[in-house]
Amino acid sequence: MGDGGSVVKRFLRPFRGEALRVPPVWLMRQAGRYLPEYRATRAEAGDFLKLCYTPRLAAEVTLQPIRRYGFDAAILFSDILVVPDALGQPVRFADGEGPRLDPIRSREGLAGLDLPGTSSKFDIVAETVQRLRQDLPPETALIGFCGAPWTVATYMVQGQGSPDQAEARLWAYRDPEGFEALIDVLVAASIDYLDRQVKAGADCLQIFDTWAGSLPDDEFDRWVVKPTRTIREALADLHPDVPVIGFPRGAGATAVWYVSETGVDGIGCDTATPPFVMSEAFDEEDVVVQGNLDPLLLVAGGARLDERVDEILDLMEGKRFIFNLGHGIVPQTPPEHVARLVARVRSRG
Ligand code: CP3
Repeated sequence: MGDGGSVVKRFLRPFRGEALRVPPVWLMRQAGRYLPEYRATRAEAGDFLKLCYTPRLAAEVTLQPIRRYGFDAAILFSDILVVPDALGQPVRFADGEGPRLDPIRSREGLAGLDLPGTSSKFDIVAETVQRLRQDLPPETALIGFCGAPWTVATYMVQGQGSPDQAEARLWAYRDPEGFEALIDVLVAASIDYLDRQVKAGADCLQIFDTWAGSLPDDEFDRWVVKPTRTIREALADLHPDVPVIGFPRGAGATAVWYVSETGVDGIGCDTATPPFVMSEAFDEEDVVVQGNLDPLLLVAGGARLDERVDEILDLMEGKRFIFNLGHGIVPQTPPEHVARLVARVRSRG
């Protein structure tokens, strides 16, 4: 991934130490149901996982928001639950409902997981990345991703989304060694998955830890920080130039500890992260800050959206910063509000 004398993509410049007057911008879930062209491709695929496993269609939906808005980075279209699916715990997405899996709640349940078996499904995702490498504009970075082991485990153990991730937390308390065996499988699968994405052409990686905020400090250290550090270190050995962004949603002030202990190169800040944490708390860390506009303000739009975008840009001026939301775009977002946001960020130039 060397620069080879070519210009470094704008998106990657903060990771090379630059604070840009106009920060790079991309949005979590920038490809999705708020876009009519996504809904059309999704209908063509029929099933959501079929969309993820059809490289031509997955590449198409990755490119859709780039064509519309010219974001500085594209994010591979896939899902964090591709990993359990590839491990042999089939994932179903029923229309209008979240994901469903047959839950694994004990050590015995791990026997059915097949780590070498992930290869064929990971190969399909790598093929999407290869296509994107060819089809993306040369100035657009490509972000690969996985879910963090903790967050992926919460779905594997609960069998679906949940407000409190209770089943995974209970397993971790009752039988920490057994639960650790599950986390270890996920660490190994995630390293392999991310390695393949980089080999196929990803410029940067993000680890989504949506449910990091549900754990008290000691559990957070064991199930969020340690596995993420293991993944980060393995990737640093394999691909030292590829930055890794962590997104420990809900970590609050603990995000600073997360950064110093995991060694991530970027920290995704969620919607609730206070301004002083965004602008000052990470000063001692060698890290790029990313975030954190409220996705619902992007739905509301109007002058309040412009004001808030300006506030965030003012706050982060002079810092190594990437503009993003504090969580993913929601389906009811008017596409023209996204255009307004991007124009507002770029009007700083
Ligand atoms: O950001 C992107 O544009 C890239 C693609 C992407 C998706 N999911 C596509 C998707 C990424 C990076 C994800 C990550 C993901 N998936 C997370 C972590 C980030 C977060 O949002 O907290 C989680 C927890 C999941 C698991 C997941 N996938 C759930 C709970 C759901 C159902 C809820 C919903 O929004 O429908 C999904 C489905 C999903 N993943 C959709 C998309 C576009 C919608 C499916 C559809 O088209 O019907």
